[in-house]
Amino acid sequence: MIRKKRDGDELSQNEIESFINAYTDDSIPDYQVSAWLMAVVLRGMTRGETAALTDAMLRSGEVLDLSYLSPKKVDKHSTGGVGDKTSLVLAPLAAAAGVAVPMISGRGLGHTGGTLDKLEAIPGFNVNLPVADFRRVLETCGCAMIGQTAEIAPADRKLYALRDVTGTVESPYLICASIMSKKLAEGIDALVLDVKTGSGAFMKNEKDAAFLAELMVETGTRMGKQVVALITDMDQPLGNMIGNALEVVEVVQVLRGEGPEDLRQLCIELAGWMLHLGGVSDTVAAGKKQSEKLIASGKALDKFRQMVELQGGDPRTIDDLTKLPQAQATMTTASASDGYVASVQCEQIGSACVILGGGRERKEDSVDPAVGIVLRKKVGDAVSKGEPLATIHYNAETRASRAKQLLEESYRIADAPLRQTRPLIHRVIGNPGEKN
Ligand code: URA
Repeated sequence: MIRKKRDGDELSQNEIESFINAYTDDSIPDYQVSAWLMAVVLRGMTRGETAALTDAMLRSGEVLDLSYLSPKKVDKHSTGGVGDKTSLVLAPLAAAAGVAVPMISGRGLGHTGGTLDKLEAIPGFNVNLPVADFRRVLETCGCAMIGQTAEIAPADRKLYALRDVTGTVESPYLICASIMSKKLAEGIDALVLDVKTGSGAFMKNEKDAAFLAELMVETGTRMGKQVVALITDMDQPLGNMIGNALEVVEVVQVLRGEGPEDLRQLCIELAGWMLHLGGVSDTVAAGKKQSEKLIASGKALDKFRQMVELQGGDPRTIDDLTKLPQAQATMTTASASDGYVASVQCEQIGSACVILGGGRERKEDSVDPAVGIVLRKKVGDAVSKGEPLATIHYNAETRASRAKQLLEESYRIADAPLRQTRPLIHRVIGNPGEKN
């Protein structure tokens, strides 16, 4: 299998299926699978191979049947970004509108953050619920958030952790199989995909992002699901906070009707689609309006608090954010000149957070929930010499100085303001319903 992929030959459905099954039941070691993954990154896959991989990963565990629940089951998944905490806002928000959200997410991947690591920053929150408990939480509050388990998408659980630390994330075929196998195992009717593009995304340019979006929309549609993909900007972090507990703070801010504008806007846009595909609003525009109302009334925040409690988390954290893990110390990075922020190297900012301990450098690493970065300046902002660009929250001095250097290098300051900023939403691909 390794040699065949290395040499660019096409693998059969049977070969892919036996390989995935053997890895899932531990008959093939990580080092051989790592070599195969790298061959896939370098050689790519045919549509047939991608479909076979997605299918084998999907069938490596249980495929949930949630048809007994009357609301439509809708989920959202992002291809991975820096500061992207939208899932934590969207699951309770869509559930507050009457859509059922059975969400299976991942951990941090490469330089990007992961929903599960963020949820685990909430003291007591259990992302490893057995299927029966997952169903119970979903039935009680309309949303539940867990990870790939030994029961659901176990092949993705293992491959995801391996790809994270072997430089084998950036393949549209592997990303498609990883995302779609989890999502198709959830028993959903519809899926909203947030495909990121820019310096902090796995797909750096819009052409590659569109290719990935089309691959996933095609895979989901073939399996009878309604799927839409929004190509959204990841040329700078989303919101201002990066790091697990810090991102929970920003999630609560958005659910309180506060928080940074870019994050709020993207959450409302994605929620609009979820509500529309979930059949609770006739149009995406109506879904957006309804989402804004659910935030203003406090119902979305109530739903989040309820889900946290049902999954073992301490609900008091949501009302008193100082109960979240806090780093021991902070330091700031300052601008070396007067001017305007022309760009940031978003991947480097994500890597700085990993270095602080907010993500993993090896499979067995544990994540420090308290560390992270708060951006004080974003693209387009005016800045004076010596003014803080970002604040680093850290627990280890040596890690903080490495992260600081990376952050300083990632900001580009120009003399003149930017003429044009990048849009937050680049394109919509696949249109299973009405667009606006
Ligand atoms: N999200 C996933 O679930 N898998 C990937 O491979 C990338 C992002």
